[in-house]
Amino acid sequence: MASAWVRVVGVVGGGQMGSGIAQLAATAQLDVILADVDQQALQRGMRNITSSLSKFVKKQVLSQEEADATVARVRATTSLSDMRDVNVVIECVSENEALKKRIFGELDEILQPKAILASNTSSISITRLAAATQRPKQVIGMHFMNPPPIMKLVEIVRGMATDDNVFATVKCLAERFNKVVICSRDYPGFIVNRVLMPMINEAFFALLEGVGTPQDIDTAFPEAMGRDSVIMLASTPKRRDTIMDI
Ligand SMILES: NC(=O)c1ccc[n+]([C@@H]2O[C@H](COP(=O)([O-])OP(=O)(O)OC[C@H]3O[C@@H](n4cnc5c(N)ncnc54)[C@H](O)[C@@H]3O)[C@@H](O)[C@H]2O)c1
Repeated sequence: MASAWVRVVGVVGGGQMGSGIAQLAATAQLDVILADVDQQALQRGMRNITSSLSKFVKKQVLSQEEADATVARVRATTSLSDMRDVNVVIECVSENEALKKRIFGELDEILQPKAILASNTSSISITRLAAATQRPKQVIGMHFMNPPPIMKLVEIVRGMATDDNVFATVKCLAERFNKVVICSRDYPGFIVNRVLMPMINEAFFALLEGVGTPQDIDTAFPEAMGRDSVIMLASTPKRRDTIMDI
């Protein structure tokens, strides 16, 4: 197994995606270090993990003991230097290229030479993020869908320099998380958002022209094309902000 050497996963950014990915890694029996600059975000992230696992307990997918042991495998920290001995970092901070580059640069100084740096970016070039480090061969995109514990897809994005062994390790790791893996070249939006964002854009134009209400547009797609094709114009301002960043 290409990812057998991976024992400890670091997750930077304990928000919606980071907490979900930390949960996935801990569920796969890996030790996890979850870092965020914001102590409250970390506490929220840990609560999200506990609450998501309790739903699996209710559905009898997990026992309460397994859920408790999973939470215990996640250590929360506000200090990036605690990432020193992790094998793979999955970066999940806000979709801001300058911020991600700064964090990649800092992690590059902290991590062991063999460690892999993955980003959960929705659309930022992996090649450009890799250029902020001295280890471009070990930088890769690992784009999870929201919410990570539920959605099956992980889109793996190879930068211009990404090494074949790094790709194999990260693909194998995503499979240990029980995910379906696709591989995208490093183009804006990769595969998923390249196709999804124009559709969401068009939905906003339809709204602007008064073709339908947000609720009618949102209802149209799951009902017309299957439950999973959701646009969610009527969703929270937070989700709309994320879409604007992409
Ligand atoms: N939300 C989605 O639907 C979704 C889906 C797929 C991918 N993504 C991508 O995942 C990433 C995170 O998105 P999210 O929705 O989880 O955002 P979020 O706002 O919920 O979480 C981001 C977290 O990053 C933390 N952060 C900011 N600066 C930091 C720093 N310097 N060091 C450590 N932590 C820092 C924030 O405190 C916050 O807790 C983005 O790149 C986004 O494009 C999001």
